[in-house]
Amino acid sequence: MEPSTTGESAKSHRNHTIKHHSLHSQLHVHHHGILSSTSILIIIISTISVVLVLTIFLIIAMLRRLKSSKNRGSCRDLSSCNTSKSVAHNTISFTSSPDVNGGCLYGSNLGHKPPSKYKGVQVFTYKELEIATNKFSASNVIGNGGYGVVYRGTLSDGTVAAIKMLHREGKQGERAFRVEVDLLSRLHSPYLVDLLGYCADQNHRLLIFEFMHNGSLQHHLHHKQYRPLEWGTRLRIALGCARALEFLHEHTIPAVIHRDFKCSNILLDQDFRAKVSDFGLAKMGSDRINGQNLTRVLGTTGYLAPEYASTGKLTTKSDVYSYGVVLLQILTGRIPIDTKRPSGEHVLVSWALPRLTNRDKVMEMIDPALQGQYLMKDLIQVAAIAAVCVQPEADYRPLMTDVVQSLVPLVKNLSSVSSTGSSRFMNQSSPRPM
Ligand SMILES: Nc1ncnc2c1ncn2[C@@H]1O[C@H](COP(=O)(O)OP(=O)(O)OP(=O)(O)O)[C@@H](O)[C@H]1O
Ligand SMILES: [Mg+2]
Repeated sequence: MEPSTTGESAKSHRNHTIKHHSLHSQLHVHHHGILSSTSILIIIISTISVVLVLTIFLIIAMLRRLKSSKNRGSCRDLSSCNTSKSVAHNTISFTSSPDVNGGCLYGSNLGHKPPSKYKGVQVFTYKELEIATNKFSASNVIGNGGYGVVYRGTLSDGTVAAIKMLHREGKQGERAFRVEVDLLSRLHSPYLVDLLGYCADQNHRLLIFEFMHNGSLQHHLHHKQYRPLEWGTRLRIALGCARALEFLHEHTIPAVIHRDFKCSNILLDQDFRAKVSDFGLAKMGSDRINGQNLTRVLGTTGYLAPEYASTGKLTTKSDVYSYGVVLLQILTGRIPIDTKRPSGEHVLVSWALPRLTNRDKVMEMIDPALQGQYLMKDLIQVAAIAAVCVQPEADYRPLMTDVVQSLVPLVKNLSSVSSTGSSRFMNQSSPRPM
C-alpha cells in the first residue's frame, strides 16, 4: 500500500506539480498581460504629454515671431528703430515742466511728440543738395561758422532748408558730424533746431536743418541793421533757450551737455521763437568718469565756465554758466568780450556780476534800447537769475528747471499785460531793411 500510496502520492504530487505549474504558468501569463497594458498606458500618456508640451512651445514661438515682426513693421527708418526708447522717454518727461499756453509761448502740446509732418532724418546725395542750393551758389550763403558754410536750399519736396557744408579737414569736423547726426536723430523738441537729414557722400559731409527765418539771436542783439528786440521778445527767447537746456540736461537719458551754448547758436523762427542749434561739440553724460567729464576745452571764449576753462571739468553746470552769459547779453545788449570798451568793462561777466544785485546799478546796465519797456520787478528777477547762473562756484548754479520755473511767471504775466493792450509789450521784432 505504501508504495501504491507512495505511487499515488507521487502521482498526486506530480499532478499537483503540473497543476501548480500550469496555474503558475497561467498566473505568469496573466501577470504578463497586466504589465504590457500598463506599459502601453504609460507610453500613451507620455506620448500625449510630449505632444502637448511641443504644441505649447510651438504656439509660444509663433506668438513671439508675430510680435517681433509687428515691431519691425512699425519701425520704418533707421533712426526711429534705434531711438524709439529715447524718444519715448523724452516724450514722457517733457510734460513735467509748466507750460505757458494761450499762444503767447509755444503750444503746450508741441513738446509731446515730433511734429506730425516729421519724416525722420533723411539721407541725401551730394547731387540732390547741389540741386537744392543751385550748385552751392554764393548767393545762397546765409552764414559762415567755424565748422563750415551754411546755405539756404530748397529740397525736392519744396521744403526750404539750411544746408551746412562742413569743412573737410580735421578729425573734429568728422566727430561734430557724427555727434550731430546721432544726437539730433534721437532728440526731438520744439526747442531744438530739427535735423532734416544728412549727406555723407564720399568725403562730403553736410547737415540739413529746418530753416530758421530770423537767423541767429547774435544778429538781432548785436548787428546794427536789425531793429532792437523788445523786452517781451527777449524774455520769451530766454525762456525758450532755458527749456532747450532743461530738455537736454534733465529730460534726456543720459543727460546731454551742449558745450557751445551761445547767441549765434540760438536761432529764431518766423515768430521769433528760439531754438538751439549746433550739437557738434555736445557731450553725453554716459561719457562721464566719476560723475564728470574731463575733456579737452572746446567752446567759445567768453561763454566758458571758469572751472571748465581751467581744468576741463565739464558738467551740465558749464552750460548753465553759458546760459547766464547769454542772459546778460539779452539784458545789456553787450557782447561777452569787448576790448573796445573802457578797461574794467572788457569781460561782460566780471563787469556785470557786482552790479546785478544792486537795484540802481541794474538799471544802469540795461540795454538802452529797452528803456521803459520792462517792469522793475521783472528786471530785478531776470538780473538775479543771470547772477546765480554765472557765479564762479559751479555747485551753486541752479538747475535749468529752476531757471524755467522762475521765467515762466514773467512770460505769463507778459502775455496777460499785452492782451490788456499795453503797448509796452507789443512785439514787432522784424528786422530793419538791410
Ligand atoms: N537752421 C538755420 N536756419 C537759418 N539760418 C541758419 C541755420 N543754421 C545756421 N544759420 C545761419 O548761419 C550762421 C552760421 O552758423 P554756424 O553754426 O555755421 O556758425 P556760428 O554759429 O556763427 O559759429 P560756430 O561755428 O562757432 O557755431 C548762423 O549764425 C545763422 O545765421
Ligand atoms: Mg552755430
